[in-house]
Amino acid sequence: MCVCIYIYIYMMDLGCWRLFGAAILFFHGFCFSEKAPNYTFMHEATSAPDISYYDYIIVGGGTAGCPLAATLSQNYSVLLLERGGSPYGNPNITNLAAFGQALADLSPSSPSQRFISEDGVINARARVLGGASCLNAGFYTRAATDYVNRAGWDGRLVNESYQWVEKVMAFEPSMLQWQSAVRDGLLEVGVVPYNGFTYDHLSGTKVGGTIFDQDGQRHTAADLLQYANPNGLTVLLHASVHEILFTTTGKSRPIAHGVRFTDASGINHRAYLKKGSKNEIIISAGALGSPQLLMLSGVGPADHLKAHNITVVVDQPMVGQGMSDNSMNAIFIPSPVPVEVSLIQVVGITHFGSYIEAASGENFAVGSHRDFGMFSPKIGQLSTVPPKQRTPEAIAIAVESMSNLDEAAFRGGFILEKIMGPLSTGHLELRNRNPNDNPSVTFNYFKEPEDLQRCVEGIRTIERIIESKAFSKFRYDDISLQTLLNMTANSPVNLLPKHKNASTSLEQFCKDTVMTIWHYHGGCQVGRVVDHDYKVLGMDALRVIDGSTFYYCPGTNPQATVAMLGRYMGVRILSERLASDTTK
Ligand SMILES: Cc1cc2nc3c(=O)[nH]c(=O)nc-3n(C[C@H](O)[C@H](O)[C@H](O)COP(=O)(O)OP(=O)(O)OC[C@H]3O[C@@H](n4cnc5c(N)ncnc54)[C@H](O)[C@@H]3O)c2cc1C
Ligand SMILES: *[C@@H]1O[C@H](CO)[C@@H](O)[C@H](O)[C@H]1NC(C)=O
Ligand SMILES: *[C@@H]1O[C@H](CO)[C@@H](O)[C@H](O)[C@H]1NC(C)=O
Ligand SMILES: *[C@@H]1O[C@H](CO)[C@@H](O)[C@H](O)[C@H]1NC(C)=O
Ligand SMILES: *[C@@H]1O[C@H](CO)[C@@H](O)[C@H](O)[C@H]1NC(C)=O
Ligand SMILES: *[C@@H]1O[C@H](CO)[C@@H](O)[C@H](O)[C@H]1NC(C)=O
Ligand SMILES: *[C@@H]1O[C@H](CO)[C@@H](O)[C@H](O)[C@H]1NC(C)=O
Repeated sequence: MCVCIYIYIYMMDLGCWRLFGAAILFFHGFCFSEKAPNYTFMHEATSAPDISYYDYIIVGGGTAGCPLAATLSQNYSVLLLERGGSPYGNPNITNLAAFGQALADLSPSSPSQRFISEDGVINARARVLGGASCLNAGFYTRAATDYVNRAGWDGRLVNESYQWVEKVMAFEPSMLQWQSAVRDGLLEVGVVPYNGFTYDHLSGTKVGGTIFDQDGQRHTAADLLQYANPNGLTVLLHASVHEILFTTTGKSRPIAHGVRFTDASGINHRAYLKKGSKNEIIISAGALGSPQLLMLSGVGPADHLKAHNITVVVDQPMVGQGMSDNSMNAIFIPSPVPVEVSLIQVVGITHFGSYIEAASGENFAVGSHRDFGMFSPKIGQLSTVPPKQRTPEAIAIAVESMSNLDEAAFRGGFILEKIMGPLSTGHLELRNRNPNDNPSVTFNYFKEPEDLQRCVEGIRTIERIIESKAFSKFRYDDISLQTLLNMTANSPVNLLPKHKNASTSLEQFCKDTVMTIWHYHGGCQVGRVVDHDYKVLGMDALRVIDGSTFYYCPGTNPQATVAMLGRYMGVRILSERLASDTTK
């Protein structure tokens, strides 16, 4: 392992006084990226036969698909089809300090595919083995016990499944000064009690887990494939599934029996279920991919499918309904002293339905300088203009003016609030019949007044944290707002809202500066599209298991629960099958 040391001299001009200083920033991880594990079961789809047979076929090697495939492979033959490539050896994925590089990469081979909702908020979806766990900000935290109970899950198996995931993917973060100040500020303004470091969802303030280890290396859901039985699993990369194939004989329910996918050269392949009434196809293509693929396969609102010349297998009006994205709003706090580079480590779980989190430091992404990480216009986060004005031109201007900003403008961090739920929902529709293109999706941020109220309360709390004693070291006290504005002028960040008209203007601030924290979910919800066993209603041998099945975002951040669900359902499918085989 190689450790790079960056010595960084900074100088700052603040009118009458001048600051000199030097900071030594340690970065493990710029110089090496994790070696690919010895996954003998992982191949390019171009090497696949035209036709093959398996007990289980899983579509989507993401945060839920990987743990599910690893688990089922213990006892059955499993094919895992992922439209993207391998995450291993790509520093844009592996290194904490490179956060945002993949999201900024708009090429067709990027592990991230940008999409813009009809609301105008720029968003991203994964296209890589490991799914969004390869792109995300790494925060790892479980769902509330209440959420688990309401989902009807078995609490004991849920806990075992979380632990199974955590052994490979979750770490305790090293808390440095800036994140510690946010934690102490939260406590000072009354987001109590302090619950220390824990994966549990408890009201108050806590330090959560992270999928970045002590060296800043990311551990993704693809790493869960180390649990797989190599003789039971085949993983195909760059395998885009175009449709689920059904047998629809006579009056019986349609039965899923195969899939058609294309490889990187555009060649068609088919994979079928082996004979055996318990074999199944499972869709784990994420909140955009799963409803999209169901519709492309003829399962969805009949009129909508007919408009796209898709043969209707089952008229299912609820496919694509209940799409939600939790709004995120953030405030930038320029700091007079250097701050560490951090992604989310601390969360305040308030009693009014808002979660307060934070990220800090200039992002020294590979090959570029001076960036705002999670809040960079390069990744589509442009909150200084309202959603519908975030055009490519507006982004280009923001990126350009960012390159002219003084280094001091980047020193600091963001405190963000994300609302729980949300209650507002929207829907998803096909744009065309290409599974690689984005469907159209509408989230209707803040349509429900309660969501807006949660945002307003969240912003108020952030203001108090910034003004707290604990945070004093990291804010300019003796600088006028005008100077701060000048310092960060034209930068794509929001400082404290200027609210003369307290509640009205904070409401407008929430609407105008709304961003995504990429926790979107829904589209194949339990009780509407799938039953409580995640089986698609009205047909056989097909399930959906991923974030598309949720009504609300679990915990403060969803990935722990999405990965848990993959493991949990894998174990349940195996044990139910074992039980029914032995009673025969
Ligand atoms: C930038 C970003 C930051 C985030 N930060 C956090 C965070 O800090 N903490 C947290 O808990 N959560 C975070 N999240 C959210 C979390 O990562 C996701 O909610 C979760 O990973 C979704 O899991 P999934 O299995 O539902 O979908 P995904 O992980 O997206 O998996 C779906 C997979 O299916 C594949 N696929 C789709 N269609 C097809 C097809 N037709 N054929 C073949 N394959 C297909 C995709 O390529 C993808 O790999 C973040 C997400 C993003 C994008
Ligand atoms: C990393 O991302 C940058 C753009 O953000 C891109 O130019 C580069 O090709 C990416 N590298 C890899 C290995 O994908
Ligand atoms: C699961 O773990 C949580 C703590 O993480 C605990 O509060 C809960 O009681 C456990 N549930 C069961 C059923 O053991
Ligand atoms: C559907 O098919 C009809 C007749 O072949 C064609 O005119 C129409 O353009 C098609 N529509 C779409 C959306 O492909
Ligand atoms: C802010 O910038 C403007 C234009 O450059 C300048 O006229 C003004 O004096 C500056 N204000 C402060 C407080 O620095
Ligand atoms: C300020 O508040 C008043 C009363 O609530 C309202 O009528 C007015 O439109 C608000 N102004 C702005 C700029 O929000
Ligand atoms: C899986 O297979 C192993 C033997 O390979 C067996 O001991 C175990 O009971 C099986 N489990 C299930 C759930 O089928």
